[in-house]
Amino acid sequence: MLIRKPADIQPSEITDHSLYLSRREFMKDSALALGGIAASLALPALLLHSQQADAATEKFSGVKKSPYSTTEDMTPYKDVTTYNNFYEFGTDKYSPAQLAGTLNPRPWTISVEGEVKHKKTYDIDSLIKMAPLEERIYRFRCVEGWSMVIPWVGLPLASILKKLEPTGNAKYVEFTTLLDTKQMPGERSGVLDWPYIEGLRMDEAMNPLTLFAVGLYGEVLPKQNGAPIRLVVPWKYGFKNTKSIVKIRFTDKQPVNTWMKTNPYEYGFYANVNPQVDHPRWSQARERRIGEFGKRETLMFNGYSEQVAHLYTGMDLRKFF
Ligand code: MTE
Repeated sequence: MLIRKPADIQPSEITDHSLYLSRREFMKDSALALGGIAASLALPALLLHSQQADAATEKFSGVKKSPYSTTEDMTPYKDVTTYNNFYEFGTDKYSPAQLAGTLNPRPWTISVEGEVKHKKTYDIDSLIKMAPLEERIYRFRCVEGWSMVIPWVGLPLASILKKLEPTGNAKYVEFTTLLDTKQMPGERSGVLDWPYIEGLRMDEAMNPLTLFAVGLYGEVLPKQNGAPIRLVVPWKYGFKNTKSIVKIRFTDKQPVNTWMKTNPYEYGFYANVNPQVDHPRWSQARERRIGEFGKRETLMFNGYSEQVAHLYTGMDLRKFF
């Protein structure tokens, strides 16, 4: 088996040349794209198996449209699926598309634990059948300062959670990624405290915008985007969107999410998109939409204030960042 370090793999090997060149331009302009989350970490020299992620070929049918979708231009499929953050496959943006071939999304189970009536290990396909699939075209804002518009295929999380019947003690819900160094070789590094964990307050999880995504662009979710199932919370920074989920745990205590554990000074529990609250190392007032030159204003709650602002009434969003 050919073993290569991520640093040996040139982005030009995994994307077409013109796109690669325009990305180089983009990255030259944006120190954030180069640094971002990864810059807060000491990057280890990961040894990862080089294996091309399988192309997603299976299409969904009968997916209904959603009134929550934006009409903004969508980010091209190629960018959505080759410019990723998925540290289980390396810390640079291009590694996940190159290396996620080792992930096996079927068979796949999700265990439901904690303060909930229907504690059980569910086969993913039975979980997906709990609600009709919808297409949701959402803005996506990474804490590093870049954004995209992505047409997800998914299920409203609320419809699944209601069927699982959380108890009256469930105040939060926690989502955990697969821990398996064979499938996710990046977990052999100490770059994060594995497995990747994120959490939401129950009312955030039950908000109609919150989604469990199983596809994008009408096709099955590519491995590098978090196959077979991932969280999408469009008013929060991208790091809340746990990929490749194997556990849902209901709890009365606020979960300690991975990035907060890694650097509590820089990353909080709420992670709401907020142009008025800077990241300690950069401003969050503007963002670069992938594929565009120049920057645009970042919107409060990523433009979803109407749906979610009420969740934070009376809270000091500088303190609860
Ligand atoms: N989930 C896991 N398990 N591991 C990760 O490294 N990165 C997060 C989030 N979910 C991450 C994760 C971050 S920082 C971002 S911005 C989004 O996934 C990126 O999602 P995308 O690659 O589909 O754009």
